[in-house]
Amino acid sequence: MVELTIDNQRVRVKKGTTILEAADKFNITIPTLCHHENLTPLGSCRLCTVEVIVNGISKLTTACTFPVEQGIEVRTTSQKALEARRLAAELLLAKCPTSAKIKSLAQEIGVAKPRIKVREEDCILCELCVRTCREIVGRQALKFINRGLNQRVEPRIDFSPDMCIGCGSCAYVCPTGAIKMEDKDGTRVVYARNWEKEFKLKKCKVCGNYWAPEEQLEYIRGKLNLPPDFFDVCPNCR
Ligand code: SF4
Ligand code: FES
Repeated sequence: MVELTIDNQRVRVKKGTTILEAADKFNITIPTLCHHENLTPLGSCRLCTVEVIVNGISKLTTACTFPVEQGIEVRTTSQKALEARRLAAELLLAKCPTSAKIKSLAQEIGVAKPRIKVREEDCILCELCVRTCREIVGRQALKFINRGLNQRVEPRIDFSPDMCIGCGSCAYVCPTGAIKMEDKDGTRVVYARNWEKEFKLKKCKVCGNYWAPEEQLEYIRGKLNLPPDFFDVCPNCR
């Protein structure tokens, strides 16, 4: 176990726990955007920034990526932490000013309008889509490219159509709506600003409803070694 202080409260948590998890255990709320409890933390949005005092030295860190250490002091609402969060919120809002999720998070943090130039993009490069596709679905249809400070080319999310099975997890998890999914007349389209892929949906032999992309069902069937006709019937009619 590790003992630390969070907002003047002495707490004990398991070694390896992040500051975010430790705070959550004691009902201390820290805002997050790029964090998901089932995914490897990335620390890209910086909305969870907190102040940490380690050996008497104060520094800012992202709560979702920082594992607690014996004797540290965490300040989740110090002026330094709140200012850093406001700046992070401003940058995100300047990038995606129309995203409802970002607008509401920024408002909670006290930012109504960014002071910097608005860029009107739709992707904040949080990689939730990339991590979900890789870590939960087990595919790599989306990849982050050009990450790094010295890159001359803008970082972006790259799409590999051959790897995409149309499950739509990326659209579900995307906080800004940069990835979308539509089902219509037996077809599903998953798309973003610069890519799209269309999928044929499987028709249930009993009720006649279209219920999931054939490519996705074939992927699951292969993984679980299920009989060829296993998905002929939808879960509701099974
Ligand atoms: S497409 Fe959405 S989920 Fe993926 S990195 Fe951009 S904002 Fe995040
Ligand atoms: S939630 Fe921690 S950096 Fe985004």
